[in-house]
Amino acid sequence: MAFPKQRFRRLRANPTLRRMVRQTRLSVDQLIYPLFVRPGSGVRQAIVSMPGQYQFSPDTLVGQCREAADLGIPAVLLFGIPARKDAAGSQAYADDGIVQQSVAAIKKACPDLVVITDVCLCEYTDHGHCGLIVERGGRREVDNDATLPLLVRQAVSHARAGADMVAPSDMMDGRVGAIRAGLDEGGFQNIPIMAYAAKFASSYYGPFREAAESPPQFGDRRGYQMDPANADEALREVAADIEEGADIVMVKPATHYLDIIWRVKERFGMPTAAYHVSGEYAAIKAAAANGWLDEKAAALEATTAIARAGADLVITYFAKDLAKWLQEG
Ligand code: PBG
Ligand code: ZN
Repeated sequence: MAFPKQRFRRLRANPTLRRMVRQTRLSVDQLIYPLFVRPGSGVRQAIVSMPGQYQFSPDTLVGQCREAADLGIPAVLLFGIPARKDAAGSQAYADDGIVQQSVAAIKKACPDLVVITDVCLCEYTDHGHCGLIVERGGRREVDNDATLPLLVRQAVSHARAGADMVAPSDMMDGRVGAIRAGLDEGGFQNIPIMAYAAKFASSYYGPFREAAESPPQFGDRRGYQMDPANADEALREVAADIEEGADIVMVKPATHYLDIIWRVKERFGMPTAAYHVSGEYAAIKAAAANGWLDEKAAALEATTAIARAGADLVITYFAKDLAKWLQEG
């Protein structure tokens, strides 16, 4: 059928008709809200590079979680900033660590809210890398295999505190299998793993590293996170994580990686999450603050595109705003 028989505008000009034929419907059910927690009480410390986002203490964090739950947001993703950092990131797997304490407090206040915890050492190590550092041939690098038991301890300790799901973001090889075995052994067979399966070494994590106080103190993360130029390798990363027992696979960042989201969903048909990361949030916020972009329209467009590409779940700092906007219709 061609013009003039075919006129696309027939279904576009009327807003109600437009609503009827809309194919991708972003829903609050798909949203996961990332939150940062640090020790103390009454803390609500603004994160400068992420306007509208804060570091909370466990008490104020619970208030945030209540707000999110009241908006219908089903899940939060927790990142901890410990009281002290060391070479082995020991506060990551301390049973009284900041995330462990917070999970317990949230589950008490909002039992139905799904609490997901980030499993990684970079917020807890004094060198800011995601694993243990070794020196090989005069070069410092992350020791993949030596890091695995620590990630397992962290994940199990989160589960013991009451976490509903763990999300390893470290990009060590073999961590999903190790964590799955550790959880099973600890009696947590029913705690799912959301694997940061295809996590790229992205410049868009900059604001997060300010928020989590976790920039690497030397070098960068390109030795363990993926090269943004690679797509086939992303599929192999995802395949490996599924093989090792991942329940949900994640692509991160999101908007520059829609092709990866699409291929992952097509190829594996797994519950697929995409992380609209700190830099993606900050870019929209900054442009909007200058009057160069309409914040609501840009945020809805970005997250709808992520869902259209195949993401079932969208992890986003816009979660609360989106929940409100979606309610308004
Ligand atoms: C830690 C971690 C990072 C993010 C999530 N988990 C940062 C990094 O890898 O440097 C980024 C999230 C964001 O930018 O919003 N491994
Ligand atoms: Zn990390």
